[in-house]
Amino acid sequence: MSERTYVMLKPDAVRRGFAGRILQRFEDAGLQMAAMQRLAVSEAQSKALYAEHEGKPFYDSLLTYIHSGPVVATVWEGTGAVALARKLIGATDPAQAAPGTIRGDFGLVMDENVVHGSDSAESAEREIPIFFPGLD
Ligand code: RTP
Ligand code: MG
Repeated sequence: MSERTYVMLKPDAVRRGFAGRILQRFEDAGLQMAAMQRLAVSEAQSKALYAEHEGKPFYDSLLTYIHSGPVVATVWEGTGAVALARKLIGATDPAQAAPGTIRGDFGLVMDENVVHGSDSAESAEREIPIFFPGLD
């Protein structure tokens, strides 16, 4: 079934000039781009995106990182888009992520892990309007 997922190229990806190569991987995999915008994430957006992590030891540094520079917010659409995007992205810790995955190829440490991808269709439906209110 066709579904949508929210993928965000985090500040380190944009800063280090990997945005184009990362976007290419989603296109190569057959997903359709439904929305894209470069933006500075607001406090309200980061708090909404990471609400589930509030109170965890890494929460404050996670928000500082997300606000450290512009991101590229994207929505991708296709059959099994959520799981496919997570597969392309790889394990949360780049040190554990397999070569060939985005985090495995472009990341080094957990604190700067290059990209975010929704972890379920429900998460995607919650996350997409935080960044693209009114998207059809
Ligand atoms: P994401 O939400 O960014 O796609 O990453 P994920 O599902 O693979 O990982 P999640 O558990 O949702 O964690 C969200 C982000 O928080 C940072 N994190 N740091 N130091 C730590 O133990 C730790 N754990 C998580 C990472 O930036 C992770 O992407
Ligand atoms: Mg997550």
